[in-house]
Amino acid sequence: MCGIFGYVGKRENAADIVFNGLKTLEYRGYDSWGVAVRQKNKQEFLADKNIGKIGNKRLSKDIYKNPSNFSIGHTRWATHGGVTIKNAHPHLDCTGKIAVIHNGIIENFEGIKKELIKKGHIFISETDTEIIPHLIEEFMGIKKGLPADKSPREPSTNSSEKASGKIRRGFASSVRDAFNLLKGFNAIVVSYGSSSEIIACKNGSPLVVGIGEDEFFIASDLSGITPYTKKLVFLKDNEMAILGKTLQILTLPGGGKIKADIETISFNIEESGKGNYEHFMLKEIFDQPKVIRNLTENHIDQISFLAEMIKKAKGTFFIGAGTAYNACLSGMYLFSKISHKHVNTVFASEFNYLEDFLNKESLIIAFSQSGETLDVIESLNRAKKKKSKIIAVVNSLGSTIYRMADYKFLLGAGPEIAVASTKAYIAKLTVLLMIAYEITGKRKIVKPTLLKTADEIERLLEAENLKKIKETARLVATPKNAFVIGRGVSYPSSLEAALKIKEVSYIHTEGLAGGELKHGPIALIAKGTPCLVFAPNDETYDSIVSNATEIKARGGIIIGISPQNSSSFDHWIEVKDIAEGSYIAQVVVAQLLSYYLALFLKLDPDKPRNLAKSVTVK
Ligand code: G6P
Repeated sequence: MCGIFGYVGKRENAADIVFNGLKTLEYRGYDSWGVAVRQKNKQEFLADKNIGKIGNKRLSKDIYKNPSNFSIGHTRWATHGGVTIKNAHPHLDCTGKIAVIHNGIIENFEGIKKELIKKGHIFISETDTEIIPHLIEEFMGIKKGLPADKSPREPSTNSSEKASGKIRRGFASSVRDAFNLLKGFNAIVVSYGSSSEIIACKNGSPLVVGIGEDEFFIASDLSGITPYTKKLVFLKDNEMAILGKTLQILTLPGGGKIKADIETISFNIEESGKGNYEHFMLKEIFDQPKVIRNLTENHIDQISFLAEMIKKAKGTFFIGAGTAYNACLSGMYLFSKISHKHVNTVFASEFNYLEDFLNKESLIIAFSQSGETLDVIESLNRAKKKKSKIIAVVNSLGSTIYRMADYKFLLGAGPEIAVASTKAYIAKLTVLLMIAYEITGKRKIVKPTLLKTADEIERLLEAENLKKIKETARLVATPKNAFVIGRGVSYPSSLEAALKIKEVSYIHTEGLAGGELKHGPIALIAKGTPCLVFAPNDETYDSIVSNATEIKARGGIIIGISPQNSSSFDHWIEVKDIAEGSYIAQVVVAQLLSYYLALFLKLDPDKPRNLAKSVTVK
C-alpha cells in the first residue's frame, strides 16, 4: 500500500532521488503519487501530484527549477477520499511550509478536522492525512505569529511558556504532539520549509532510515535506499526520527532520546527487473523451479529446527492472509497426511478472536511474502502478550514480521513485484512439505520429490505446454463466473487458483471443496460455466472426477488438471504424478491460466485494480 520516500543531505537533486525512490515502491500498489520540494529562495513547498502510475512520466519542470537538498514523496493507495490529485500526498498546511506524507489510517481524524476548521484551517482534500500538517501548524503557532522557540530541534514541551502557548513550539515537538494525537496504525514523514529537516514518526507501518555520508534517506522499505547506503535503522513502533545534519532517534509519546540501532546489511538486493519477460508475473512464475531447488538444497538445517519446534509446541497455529493463508491451509492438510500432526490454521485477520487459546507453550508460525501485512503484525503482537513463541516464514529480509519473530525463516524467492503472489506461495508450500517430512524423520523422501517438482514445473513452462494453457485460457476468457474444485490437499489449491483468477482477470471465481458443490454452489452452474478440476493421483481422484461429471451434466466446461485424461474433462492439462509435489505443480497451471486470462481480457496482470501488494492497513 502507500509508499514513503524522503531525502535530506548534501545533494541538490533531492526531488529526483525521491522520484526514483518512489519507483522502487511501486510494487506495493498505489493509484496516485506526489513529490514535494522547497521552492527556491522560499520556505514554501511546491508539490507535483499525479493520479495513476508513474510509468514513463517525469517530474514537472517546476520541480526541476527548484534544486533542493531535501524532499519527500509518496505513492498513495486510496482509503479516505477517491483517487484525485487533491487527495494525493504530500499534503500541506495553510502556509505551505509544512509538507506531510502518511501511511495508515487515522481513526479519529473527523473530530480533529472539525476542531481545526473551527480554528480557521482550510482543507482542500478528503483525506485523513491532511489534518496532520494543519495540526502541526497549529502547534507551532505559525498563524498566530508567536515568537519562535529558540531550540526548534528539541522536542520538549514541558516548559511553562510553551505549555501556556506564549511562544511558538519547535518543529520537532509539534510533530511529536500532533502524532501523539492520532489514533490507529500510522507512519508519517514531515518536512518544514525553514528547518531543512525531515521528521518521521511511526506506530504501525514500516519506516527505514538510511545513513549516508552527510545525507539521510527514509522509506517504507530498504530497496530504494540500498543503492546509496547499506547502513540502516529500522524504526520501531513508537519511535521518532529527526533527519537533518545528524540523525536523532526519540521515543514516543515522551520524546526521550535513545541511541540509534544502526545495522549494516551485507547483502545485495537481487536485481528485480523483468528481464526479457513481458510482465513480472510471468517472470516470477518462471523463477519457481529455481526457488524450489534453492530451498531443497540449502535449508535443511533450518527446516530441522522448525520441525523440532513444532514437535515440542503444545498447539501450533499457522497464520497468514490471502495467498499466504492458502499456503497455511495446504500445510494443515500436508501435516495431517504426512506427519499425522494437527496444526491450526487461521486467517490473520481472524486470529484476534481466537487468542484465548494461546499460552506460552503455543507456537505461532506467520507466513507472509512482504512481512508487512498489518493483520499478521497485530496477531503477532497479541501472541507476544501471551508469551507464545513466534516463527516468521517471510520473503522480505528486515521486514516488520521478520524482525518481530523469535525465529526467522527467509523464503529466498527473490523480490516478488507482481501484486498477485506466485513464487512466494510455491516457496511456502515447499517449506511446508519439507517440514512435514522432517517431522516424520523421512527427510530422504522429500528431496527427490521436490527436485522432480522443479523439473515438472519446467516442463509445464515449455513453449508447447504454455501454448496449450494459453489456448485453454482463451476458451474461458469471457464468463462472469468460474469455479475451481479439489479435495484434500487440492482443496487449498482450488482456493489459491480461484484467488489468482479473481485477482488478475476480475472473473468471479469460487474455489470449493468438491463435496461442497451440491450444498449450494451447483445452483450457479449454467451452460458454459468453466470449472477447473484438480485431480491428482491420490485418494481424492474418484470423488473429484464424479464431482466434475455432475458439473458437466449441468452444462459446465471442465478443465481437468491431472496426470491422466478422463471422459469428464472437456480440456485436459497434464501435470505428471510426482507424489505430493503434484500439489505444488498443479497450482502453477492455475497461475499461468490466470496470467493468460488477464492478457486476453486486456488487463495488466502485474497491477490489478484495487489491490495492493503490501497491505499495511486493517
Ligand atoms: C495482499 C496481496 C496478496 C497477498 C496478501 C498477503 O492482499 O495482494 O497477494 O497474498 O496481501 O500478503 P503477504 O505479504 O503477507 O504474503
